[in-house]
Amino acid sequence: MSLSLPELRFRLNGDEVSVRTRDDESLLEVLRERFGILSTKDGCSPMAQCGCCVAFVGGRPMVTCAMPAANANGKDVVTLEGLEADAKDLIARAFVAAGGLQCGFCIPGIAMRAWHLLDHEPDPSRERIAKALDVHLCRCTGYTKILDSIELLAAARRGEAEPAPCDDGRVGARLARYQGAELTLGARPYVADITRPNMLHGAVVLSRHARAKILSIDTSEARALPGVECVVTAADVPGERWYGLIEHDWPGFVAVGEEARCVGDFLAAVAATDEHTARAAARLVTVEYEVEEPVVDVTHALRDGAPQVNPKHPNLLSQTRIVRGDSDAALARSAHVVDETFTTQRIEHLYLEPESALAEPLRDGRLHLLSQGQGVFDDARQTAAFLGVDEDRVFVELVSNGGAFGGKEDMSIQPHAALLAQLTGKPVRLTLNREESIRIHPKRHPIRMHYTVGCDADGRLTAVRARMIGDTGAYASVGAKVLERAAGHACGPYRVANVDIDAKAVVTNNPPCGAMRGFGANQAHFAIEGCMDLLAEKCGLSGWEIRWRNALEVGDTITTGQVLEKSVGIKKTLLAIQDLYERERAAGKAVGIGCGLKNSGIGNGAVEWGKARLVVERDGTVAIYGGYTEMGQGLFTVLVQCAVEVTGLDASLFRPHVDSTFALGCGQTTGSRATLFGGRAVKNAAEKLAADLDAGNRLADLAGRVYAADVVIDDTTAPGQPCDKVKTHTTFGYATQVCVLDEDGRVERIVAAHDVGRAINPTLCEGQIEGSVHMGLGYALTEDLPCEDGWPVTFNMKELGVLRARDMPEVDVVLVEEPEPEGPFGAKGVGEIGLVPTAAAVAGALAAFDGVRRFELPMKDSPAARAMSVGRIKRNSRTPSRAQT
Ligand code: FES
Ligand code: FES
Repeated sequence: MSLSLPELRFRLNGDEVSVRTRDDESLLEVLRERFGILSTKDGCSPMAQCGCCVAFVGGRPMVTCAMPAANANGKDVVTLEGLEADAKDLIARAFVAAGGLQCGFCIPGIAMRAWHLLDHEPDPSRERIAKALDVHLCRCTGYTKILDSIELLAAARRGEAEPAPCDDGRVGARLARYQGAELTLGARPYVADITRPNMLHGAVVLSRHARAKILSIDTSEARALPGVECVVTAADVPGERWYGLIEHDWPGFVAVGEEARCVGDFLAAVAATDEHTARAAARLVTVEYEVEEPVVDVTHALRDGAPQVNPKHPNLLSQTRIVRGDSDAALARSAHVVDETFTTQRIEHLYLEPESALAEPLRDGRLHLLSQGQGVFDDARQTAAFLGVDEDRVFVELVSNGGAFGGKEDMSIQPHAALLAQLTGKPVRLTLNREESIRIHPKRHPIRMHYTVGCDADGRLTAVRARMIGDTGAYASVGAKVLERAAGHACGPYRVANVDIDAKAVVTNNPPCGAMRGFGANQAHFAIEGCMDLLAEKCGLSGWEIRWRNALEVGDTITTGQVLEKSVGIKKTLLAIQDLYERERAAGKAVGIGCGLKNSGIGNGAVEWGKARLVVERDGTVAIYGGYTEMGQGLFTVLVQCAVEVTGLDASLFRPHVDSTFALGCGQTTGSRATLFGGRAVKNAAEKLAADLDAGNRLADLAGRVYAADVVIDDTTAPGQPCDKVKTHTTFGYATQVCVLDEDGRVERIVAAHDVGRAINPTLCEGQIEGSVHMGLGYALTEDLPCEDGWPVTFNMKELGVLRARDMPEVDVVLVEEPEPEGPFGAKGVGEIGLVPTAAAVAGALAAFDGVRRFELPMKDSPAARAMSVGRIKRNSRTPSRAQT
């Protein structure tokens, strides 16, 4: 660093420090890059909108990403690392005991805020705590257990007895989250926290236009910048430049002469000695475009003569048809028919940890890839193909991520980091900023759905006809499967004899859409549940009653034609909320109800795997190797509990890993299947270890042994596949949720009753549902990612509408257990279903409140939405972002 740069002196965690900084350097950059501070995370710099980077500056909690480093001159700066050891222990115990963390990325900042609050207000109300967290965003927890944690922390600081984190690892116990203390304190590194000697930093150049021919890319100025070691474009890719989870239609770089298809397209990548230089070099790359009118509307995309957006397939990416019975005749005979169009919006995942990858050449010629993707073996496979090397030349390791929700299924920057590392021979870490993250990764599909639904005079459904059309954006990703899943969930958790469903995925120049929590089921349920409410009114029934009369039971047929043979808990969830529903209505409250089902397992003809290896280590621990991803949902803790239940060993002995020590590729952690199949594999492997222990061996006697189990699921059928017995999915989760509004039309309370099969860890189950309800309320009321000319109109986190702590109502979770014989200990997936019924329950409550039935999400015109602190988009938000590209 040049001596001409100004010197910054301050006290960091009690030590006098000095450093020379650039004028544009933030305090966050200084803390992370110069002093290796890990607890201050970068979720959105320099926007100051997520709170992950909070430290005490001059005794006050400050977001350090928006603070020029010079402002810290002469000040006391304290990060979470610098708190007294007792304080850190107390914080960790409180968050772990109350289950107040999932991915953990937001927690260190929240912990600092809480500690400061409690310094000044030892006994704050829950409302006061929630308000104090206004700057802080958590995308995982729904805040309920975070508030519980801070209340626990407050009580402990006041000297009240504190519950110890649970160390009982048996199935059904509330075992403390694996690595919970380290995550709470920010001490367990994410990819962007990891460094290597001589590590270079990457940056990318993205297309400025949603549709434009690339006439030239000039990298000469970028290459000439001191500190730059490598600049790559499509011409430098030695292997297969096009990749994708299903279709290979997504180029790692768009080449000169080709067309860019969205504003997240990669044109070049840079490696330099530091991130600042890499980003400066990326800005020096000059691209000449021939700009074309983007295709941004699905109707336009399907017109004759419309430009073909992606050269690998037509604009109609897929069409799913499900036809059973005679819908036209059944509708004609029906006592009541509703015919309505519902529309849902594009949703950004907004996980708190932006994408990051680190690739390091190893001495043996392999490349070590640290990925936070949702299917790291797929990342390795696709990266190896991109590099033109055999798959075994890429050793992949999962670094459990800071949230994903489906958005980290597709590759983002793993291949770019790998290519830069391969060409420079040095480790390269490439981390996206928030805007780049939003531009690149696939979203939840906006879908327009025209439903015609009939019932008889008693409210029993006779037929469902649905026409769905979803904007899947520029690349296939898993868009065809999302629309297939929307079609398969078109009738919700109800028996319907006559079904006629058509669902299309359409390619446009908008940002790609793919997997996001719910995977098509959210959209379909908003529509079918709305129709149920309208039919109930026509029949003179309550919302509860019409759902009860139609709810699936064992022996019934779902939309796809699958006959349910086991574990159907929808009626139990309806019974669980019946009293509350009736009581609140009788009290004159505006009440809405929504039901849902969601597949567990991809199914639809896919061959799926659960794989596990239990390795007895020489240090007396047992490594659990698996193929599914820990991404905040608590999978590692669940797998430990499966092993403890079988072996009787202490939970503290188990160490979960996901890396390519063994070839355990199970595909993406998607479809609410990781517990179902991964848990089954661990259980089976643990049974082999238990047999050796039962034979009189001590663990030490078994050191070096490997206990293997692979579970294959190959008995599902694809839609339309001729067969004797349709089985589209292994199993389903079921749910009923009730939304209660207050006298001003604000959401006062959500009660969520969920059939989880078996709650392996009730705290984790509740956390998944609470977090999903938070996401579902945002989906219902405030969240949106509108685009103009293929550009998101905003990258501002508050405008995107993810709810803050003070926006959240009371959420009560009721766990219902209807055991699933194909799941470990009866469990089935709970990762996605938590928000499937939410938007419909809110819409029903709003209709009860003001008589307005809303057919479009988000319901921003409603009193419930207007009461929220987020979600108002200023139309000029996009301008600075475009100027920066
Ligand atoms: S990184 Fe500073 S507030 Fe988000
Ligand atoms: S735990 Fe808060 S963002 Fe993941």
